[in-house]
Amino acid sequence: MLGPAVAQRVHLGGDTAEQLKRVSEPASEQQANEIMTNLVYTNLTVERIEDAHRLEHNTFDTVATEDLYAVDEMVNVARAFPDGNFMVLDRDDDDKLIGLGMGILIDFDFDHSDHGLTEVHGEGGVGNHSMDNPWYYGTTIAVDPAYRGQGVGRQLYALRKGCVTKHNKAGIVAGGVLPGYRDHIKTMTADEYIEKVKAGELYDPTLSFQISEGFRAVQAIPNYMRDETVDSYAVLIVWDNPDYKPS
Ligand SMILES: CC(C)(COP(=O)(O)OP(=O)(O)OC[C@H]1O[C@@H](n2cnc3c(N)ncnc32)[C@H](O)[C@@H]1OP(=O)(O)O)[C@@H](O)C(=O)NCCC(=O)NCCS
Repeated sequence: MLGPAVAQRVHLGGDTAEQLKRVSEPASEQQANEIMTNLVYTNLTVERIEDAHRLEHNTFDTVATEDLYAVDEMVNVARAFPDGNFMVLDRDDDDKLIGLGMGILIDFDFDHSDHGLTEVHGEGGVGNHSMDNPWYYGTTIAVDPAYRGQGVGRQLYALRKGCVTKHNKAGIVAGGVLPGYRDHIKTMTADEYIEKVKAGELYDPTLSFQISEGFRAVQAIPNYMRDETVDSYAVLIVWDNPDYKPS
């Protein structure tokens, strides 16, 4: 599959770097030159947590602040699981942090899949994280609005998938936001909305993207994080790692 034409430097090793190189290859040299940017994809560092925190909170500005990461939680996650947490920097703009993909490894209970985001974060943001756990839980992903639609989101997912493959994990699970639901909230339930997005009858800026990334949209999650615009609904999304070998 040819991905969008974003020229970049990759500061990651091994399989992850190889996977990212494949998905980001420009369709043609001409296309690459036309959309040349100077973005760097790398692991999230403690030094850039303030910027990462600002990007998350600016991105999800209709969500209750307490339901998003606190700075110290982000620091803990970056320290506990550097391999699974990523940032994107713009070399042409003083290394501005323009993209963020964070996650932890948890033992997700699919029989009791209703959950709130802060419940997943756990104590200090890492209470439920262990390198032995089978599922990568995507806790946040955000791209600066000025950089959207250029393939940054897809590359962050490629990095997450590369991490899951490298560590032989079952896949990725997350509570996906439903920004488009606000326009239909008076006429349908969250589950009805999700079904219409799955069927391609409605387009959701986030869920449609995740479905195109190979995620299954399982069901609505009530009270995921406080957000009046969507009545606090999210959707349980799952990507199954085709290369997973249970031990
Ligand atoms: C969801 C999000 C991370 C995607 O990041 P992105 O860098 O814009 O994504 P990409 O450029 O890789 O685009 C992926 C697809 O989304 C669509 N898309 C997203 N933003 C777009 C834009 N501004 N213009 C056109 N298409 C866009 C396109 O269909 C694109 O598919 P394509 O590659 O086949 O053209 C970003 O929109 C975002 O930060 N949204 C707000 C936060 C959010 O919803 N996070 C997810 C939490 S679950």
